[in-house]
Amino acid sequence: MEERKRIFSGMQPSGMITLGNYLGALKNWTNLQDEYDCLYCIVDMHAITVRQDPVKLRKQCKDLLTQYLAVGIHPEKNIIYYQSHVSQHAELSWILNCYTYMGELNRMTQFKDKAAKHSDNINAGLYTYPVLMAADILLYQTDLVPVGEDQRQHLEITRDIAGRFNALYGDTFKIPEAYIGKVGARVMALQDPSKKMSKSDENQNNTIALMDDPAVIMNKVKRAVTDSENEVRYGEDKPGISNLLNIYCACTGKTIAEAEKEFSATGYGAFKTAVGEAVVAELEPVQKKIKELEQNKDYLNEVIRNGAERAGNLAAKTLTKVQKKIGFPPAIR
Ligand code: TYM
Repeated sequence: MEERKRIFSGMQPSGMITLGNYLGALKNWTNLQDEYDCLYCIVDMHAITVRQDPVKLRKQCKDLLTQYLAVGIHPEKNIIYYQSHVSQHAELSWILNCYTYMGELNRMTQFKDKAAKHSDNINAGLYTYPVLMAADILLYQTDLVPVGEDQRQHLEITRDIAGRFNALYGDTFKIPEAYIGKVGARVMALQDPSKKMSKSDENQNNTIALMDDPAVIMNKVKRAVTDSENEVRYGEDKPGISNLLNIYCACTGKTIAEAEKEFSATGYGAFKTAVGEAVVAELEPVQKKIKELEQNKDYLNEVIRNGAERAGNLAAKTLTKVQKKIGFPPAIR
């Protein structure tokens, strides 16, 4: 039997996740779990590249775990775990740091954006963030990495690091491919559709949080910035309407052409109501499930214990191989 392809992806527990994270990543993850062997990580080590409150961070990790489960990521079919529970991530990351050039890291747009935003804390971890991400992916001999469009550059550097290592030491890492969905890969801020919807946005009207009440969602969509025409059409000259069309299609499964046709005779008001309703219909069942899961502490603990054990076993294999190739002496047991 042909071996199933492996998928790895992760999300930072750095605040309430948004409709962008949901449509760009989570929703795709659930669609992939039957066809692939998947690892879905909660990347707490990445989250501390910006300052986090320890009590809040712990809660955000647990919240993200319930969110993964609530959208339908199955804990037995997939491996779900906290990054900090599998020490091989940090170990491989150090090794890969020594095979990554500063010139490469200097080009990373996310580093530039985050450094500008957190100018009081431009730490070395923020700079080498993509190397830890490469370690995450390469530890598991990953074939595909489902992410939103904003992570494409990090995938490219991961491939470059893996290729460089393989060229020096022979085949060690599988070279992973990005898997970027057609709709939902780039959900933009509602009040400023030139920038992406982001968890860390200070303007709450820019984002729809996974846990927003239906009335709040309707309100935010109604207030979304559009343009002075009244034509529901997708196009570069219409970033606000295009963003809403994208959201609508990602939630309903319709194509852009179908949606344009559906709203060809209606104004923006009716269109926005339909978009809001589609988002509510998508998120309401998830919210209900989250509330149920939150009550079940023992179950959550078991998922995370089991995930760390399974991920650790796989990660150890790659790390041992790498250590041997680069000449570290074997541990005496
Ligand atoms: P993070 O936590 O910022 O985002 C998690 C996922 O959500 C996607 N995403 C979006 N998709 C569409 N529209 C948006 N507005 C939007 N905002 C975010 C992201 O592309 C991502 O897929 N570095 C990663 C976490 C990570 C990772 C990894 C991912 C660490 N190691 C290994 C894949 C593989 C990040 O910060 O994602």
